[in-house]
Amino acid sequence: MSGRTTVSVLLPPGSAGAALVEDVRRGLASQPRTLPPKWLYDDEGSRLFDRITRLPDYYPTEAERSILLAAAPEIAALTDATTLVELGSGTSDKTRALLDAFTATGRLTRFVPVDVSEGILREAAEELASTYPDLTVQAIVGDFTLHLSHLPSDHRKLVAFLGGTIGNLYVEERGAFLGALADSFAPGDWLLLGTDLVKSADRLIAAYDDPGGVTEQFVRNGLRVLNRELGADFDEAAFTYVPFWDPHMHRMDLRLRADMPQHVHVPGAAIDFFLASGEEIRMEISTKFTRDTVRDELGAVGLEVVQTWTDAAGDFAVTLARKQAG
Ligand code: SAH
Ligand code: TRP
Repeated sequence: MSGRTTVSVLLPPGSAGAALVEDVRRGLASQPRTLPPKWLYDDEGSRLFDRITRLPDYYPTEAERSILLAAAPEIAALTDATTLVELGSGTSDKTRALLDAFTATGRLTRFVPVDVSEGILREAAEELASTYPDLTVQAIVGDFTLHLSHLPSDHRKLVAFLGGTIGNLYVEERGAFLGALADSFAPGDWLLLGTDLVKSADRLIAAYDDPGGVTEQFVRNGLRVLNRELGADFDEAAFTYVPFWDPHMHRMDLRLRADMPQHVHVPGAAIDFFLASGEEIRMEISTKFTRDTVRDELGAVGLEVVQTWTDAAGDFAVTLARKQAG
């Protein structure tokens, strides 16, 4: 028997849906000017991200993979989920460790990957359905900051949110996201959260500033997406990539600095603005956590930590939490 696959599209065609445009308008009007992170993942951005995960200095992917390979059987044994949801699933490559362990228990019946990047999601869904013929794969092309109420609620579920992607949300967005996620849970539902951990600034900067410039290309691609999708006229060549560690906010702050003054028009978001020479646009943040900050933020929305695993070097954490009754 071969697995059944469905794909539901909750996003409007193209990336220029009303909510996304509103995000861009707000972000580009704030100080520093800021771009919402989901704009980095068009098809080209998803391809570049895949290359980032194989860079020698980009440790999070392999650290998280080693944790999942070691802990997946235990995670499958601890939880009683029959549906596995994955937010920001991308290629779902590391998730195979979980799928292997969960299908071995015979309890898992459904996998629901959710991503804004439609091309990569469709590809991943088909591959997974053929590898796991007993699973129903219900892919959702959607935004995890908007569409959590569309997650299945008919079965006990485990929601995996891997890759440290939660760290790409701003503090307020993160609080709102976790609150909405917990609201979408029935008591007893599970969260498996991957978070990158605070470490030396040198190693963090190296992870986001590779000598071959793949990460820089990934960040610059955000301007290309705005030029294409919203008809903006950023002069892409006239920016310098500036990644730095912000020790107060515990995050990498990834910016593009204008090398010369520019008057930028963004017709698709009905704004224009003047960028001074040296002015920076914050393209992405990547917040780093400790076990305590993860526990506190999950506890604040009624998700109780059951267990935390780290890799041998203590670089990355995977946390299993459960929604409490009442
Ligand atoms: N989970 C994978 C991919 C991480 S990259 C891993 O651990 O390697 C982040 C993924 O989240 C990308 O596939 C991107 O398209 C997706 N993404 C980013 N913002 C999103 C949003 N708001 N809603 C849904 N998916 C999002
Ligand atoms: N979630 C990943 C992270 O924060 C996303 C990412 C990897 C990223 N490399 C990046 C985001 C470079 C922006 C720039 O590590």
